[in-house]
Amino acid sequence: MTSGNVTNDCVSHRTVAVIENASIARDTYRVRLDDPAMARGILPGQFLMIRPGEGSDPLLGRPFALYDVARDSSGTPFAIDVVYQVVGRGTAALARRRTGDYLNIWGPLGNGFGPPPDPQGPVVFVAGGIGQTPFLALARNWLGRSSYGSDRSQQNKQIKICDRATLLYGVRSADLLAGVADFEDAGVEVEIATDDGTAGHHGFTTDLLERRLAGGERPVRVVACGPPAMLAKVARITLNYNVSCHVSLENHMACGFGVCFSCVAPIVQPGGSIDLRRVCVEGAVFDARAVAWDAVLGSH
Ligand SMILES: Cc1cc2nc3c(=O)[nH]c(=O)nc-3n(C[C@H](O)[C@H](O)[C@H](O)COP(=O)(O)OP(=O)(O)OC[C@H]3O[C@@H](n4cnc5c(N)ncnc54)[C@H](O)[C@@H]3O)c2cc1C
Ligand code: FES
Repeated sequence: MTSGNVTNDCVSHRTVAVIENASIARDTYRVRLDDPAMARGILPGQFLMIRPGEGSDPLLGRPFALYDVARDSSGTPFAIDVVYQVVGRGTAALARRRTGDYLNIWGPLGNGFGPPPDPQGPVVFVAGGIGQTPFLALARNWLGRSSYGSDRSQQNKQIKICDRATLLYGVRSADLLAGVADFEDAGVEVEIATDDGTAGHHGFTTDLLERRLAGGERPVRVVACGPPAMLAKVARITLNYNVSCHVSLENHMACGFGVCFSCVAPIVQPGGSIDLRRVCVEGAVFDARAVAWDAVLGSH
């Protein structure tokens, strides 16, 4: 399969082939995209935009986190894996794409998860809904299983950065759990919560976090991704226990590279004022203490 690449001023647009688009849970798919160049460069926490339909419907791209990079038998990256849940028109169109179809994509976008925590130690990922997707590559990187990106910087060297990684993963119901085996294979301890009690803890993933911190666990970093109300609660809990917390925001996006301002979030500035910042270029990962959560929740 071949990829035809076009570049504009801001970001590289590509037409890439779908290698596979497989159902992995209820309404949830993993699509593998034939893009060796992006696979070599993308970092955990970065995302790409996918125009999911045929032709121009829908016109706008949709943002998706890197789930992982696929590698050949020699370890060379050759494709991008994205895990997505069908929630509307764009994701439904993506689910209809078949092996050999072509998609227009652009990226890698955003700043990723940034430098690893210092000092090193255990980390906890908190995911709600489809919010687990950015954490597989991050876990593999921080547990020393895989390196990402081409610049071989400190962040991307294949070194063990944390000795233990835990995923606290909450979904509405057990049949929505996606990729649990991938995390376990990567050496991540997974604890599950479901709203309806069909698997794991009957309740929210934030209950699991609170229980661990109240029990004396002190991760060097909590990283969270999910619905805004969950993120606000994770931010409040980690603040109470004085634990460092980063959040990956999933705001609506149209361009993905800073020109449309459709993705802004209220971010507290050093002087204490609140400014609207573009999540696509200044995030999507932010320090949880920098996000004005009351304003975020007020806008939902
Ligand atoms: C940086 C980033 C990374 C993401 N990574 C993933 C991923 O790995 N996997 C995945 O499944 N999804 C991910 N998302 C969310 C994904 O982009 C949306 O689910 C998708 O754009 C929805 O498109 P749609 O056309 O199917 O839905 P639409 O028809 O546009 O919307 C359907 C419903 O979903 C709501 N909705 C749409 N987008 C969002 C959003 N961003 N936040 C909250 N509600 C929304 C709408 O309000 C509407 O109610 C990510 C978003 C961002 C910003
Ligand atoms: S999505 Fe266009 S500025 Fe962020």
